[in-house]
Amino acid sequence: MRRLSLENVKLGMVIGEDIFNNFDVMVVSSGSIINENIYKLIKRMDLLDILIVEKSIEGEKRVVVVENNVQKTYDDTVQSFKNLFNNVKFGKQIVADELTDILAPMLDQVNSNKLLAKSLWQIEACDEYTYDHSVTVSMAAALLGKWMGLGENDINDLATAGLLHDIGKCNIPDEILKKPDRLTEEEFKVMKTHSTLGYLLLKNGKGFNDSILSGVYQHHEKFDGNGYPNKLREDDIHQFGRIIAVADVYSAMTSNRVYRSKMSPFQVAKLIMEYSFGYLDPVAVSIFLSNVGNFYVGTVVKLNNGLIGQIVMSNKAEPYRPLLKVDDEFVDLSKDHSLEIVAVID
Ligand SMILES: [Fe+2]
Ligand SMILES: [Fe+2]
Repeated sequence: MRRLSLENVKLGMVIGEDIFNNFDVMVVSSGSIINENIYKLIKRMDLLDILIVEKSIEGEKRVVVVENNVQKTYDDTVQSFKNLFNNVKFGKQIVADELTDILAPMLDQVNSNKLLAKSLWQIEACDEYTYDHSVTVSMAAALLGKWMGLGENDINDLATAGLLHDIGKCNIPDEILKKPDRLTEEEFKVMKTHSTLGYLLLKNGKGFNDSILSGVYQHHEKFDGNGYPNKLREDDIHQFGRIIAVADVYSAMTSNRVYRSKMSPFQVAKLIMEYSFGYLDPVAVSIFLSNVGNFYVGTVVKLNNGLIGQIVMSNKAEPYRPLLKVDDEFVDLSKDHSLEIVAVID
């Protein structure tokens, strides 16, 4: 390891220390590879030099390292968000610039890691639901934004809105937020104020645009007009609100370990489709699930009848019923509804 002055730091080098910004938030963790986002980030900071582990990692090896890095990026983002959440709880103003730093490594994964959709499923969550959930929603919302063809600024803003969508929960009393049993009607009413509280926190914060504010404010509105706080319908719900709602349901289902250990991504996809009918934006749901499905083409899976096959083609209309090849025969799950994928064998 050696210290290099900033002008000698190059892409592909591996950082040997945690780097903190002026708000004392860790923005790059030790072991990170310097990519374009990290490079821009450290150039913007008042650093004299940086501890570097290796000179550079080229070619294939680099790709592998980046993929293994998803869990680390995720863990670091959860940690930074946890600090932010607790600071806001004690009255600190939220500043958009701070979020840019926290989200940079994750957005880099969204932009560059082609297998991120698959990794999202494999990520091991820590035990504190609100923090994990916020990071998963942020990542899934940014990915969905990308698949819906949004531009880079919108994708960045979506990641911010996703990360902060439940920030209002920091103003919900712990007795309600952490209550292990079912909430009473009164308690549920209080819980439901979190989207408005979050909106107000950001409105009183610094640097958040209208899309981010709407995304946070409207993430519990439902397509059929039965959501809260304003019972908005369909396109009256801001696109960010509709996208975050899809990411929210995905996260709620996949972060539940019981689901994850008992169900395959395909079974969860089916559940999301059925469960969300009427209240999530059907176009957003379909784009999300069919893109996730695409990442599994080529994967070996097990069916509920015990047979093992390989996915050869995804199915856009019903992403959980792809075309398989079992031995030398094709099995079309869209034709045979008695069959379903119960496990992914990697
Ligand atoms: Fe929420
Ligand atoms: Fe949520």
